[in-house]
Amino acid sequence: MKALILAGGLGTRLRPFTETMPKQLIPIANQPVLEHVLVNLRALGVREICVVVGAWGPDIAARIGDGSRFGARITYLTQQRPLGLAHCVAIARPFLGDDDFVMYLGDNVVQDGIAGPAEEFRARRSDAHLVVARVADPRAFGVAELDARGRVRRLVEKPRLPLSDLALIGVYFFRPAIHRAVAAISPSARGELEITDAVQWLVDRGGPVTAGEYTGYWKDTGRVEDVLDCNRRLLDSLDRGVHGTVDAASRLTGPVHIAPGATVLRSVITGPVIVGPGSRVEDCRIGPGTSIGGDCVLRGTELENSIVMDGAWVTDRTGASDLLIGRSMRIGSGPPPEPLPTELAANGARTGGTR
Ligand code: G1P
Repeated sequence: MKALILAGGLGTRLRPFTETMPKQLIPIANQPVLEHVLVNLRALGVREICVVVGAWGPDIAARIGDGSRFGARITYLTQQRPLGLAHCVAIARPFLGDDDFVMYLGDNVVQDGIAGPAEEFRARRSDAHLVVARVADPRAFGVAELDARGRVRRLVEKPRLPLSDLALIGVYFFRPAIHRAVAAISPSARGELEITDAVQWLVDRGGPVTAGEYTGYWKDTGRVEDVLDCNRRLLDSLDRGVHGTVDAASRLTGPVHIAPGATVLRSVITGPVIVGPGSRVEDCRIGPGTSIGGDCVLRGTELENSIVMDGAWVTDRTGASDLLIGRSMRIGSGPPPEPLPTELAANGARTGGTR
């Protein structure tokens, strides 16, 4: 099976962050959303992956690379204009050939992975197998109506009056029959070739189109609150590991991960918290649900339930929570950190128990 990851899109709901980076590279637990997707595909053993990109293509390719880190070979394909998800399938046809494939939206985090749905797809031999989840407000999603045997009767994109509370979660398994459907449909009212219309075309011609309910944690990381919720959730399974330098005046409690080359001085950190390589945390109180990227500086700051992206500096902020702090952003002022005290620099990494 091949994979088609859709990583175009402008990320308008995540402005201003998406003015300077693609939404698929926003870090969740210090790993870009798109890498969480690739980790799930690696677990399936997928070796050939096509990533459809838009204007951010070069940034995505520079960060993600050729796929070797994920045991796969990645082909990048540019969609010049956002003409719809089914249009992506059409332009990827030469890559996909006549193989089965999984199409995966590159801004969706599926915590339990997709091995279960992949198995259902294989077992049911459907032309299309959709992954659905119950949501409180289905109007923001593609919505499926199923019969008692899990076969899809009808699909509607962003319905005003939803037929069910089963939303498509952005992972679709297809056999090559989908290509006939994509070629047959016309653009929707918003001028896009909708994948939901292509799947409905298959349903109307007798399918078989099936769906399976996913009950684990899933998030479309479209808005800041979704990104923070997802970060908190993924940090819950963080293992403790102190690979950087932590002075004797600091106290780390719970699952705290300090990367090699990171330094914590005179601070209290209550996990789950991750601190990336090269970052300095001085005179801070960092609370649960916080991810601090690489090469950040946090000084005299209280912060919880937040994401601090690579290279950001935060000085003298107290009582802060629920923040998404952009790459290289400066909050507060102050000189660069002093060189590390020699006794700490000489000690190097210290690992282990709660201090
Ligand atoms: C897209 C799909 C929709 C699906 C959703 C899942 O919507 O069109 O059917 O439910 O992803 O994240 P978008 O997020 O592009 O509005």
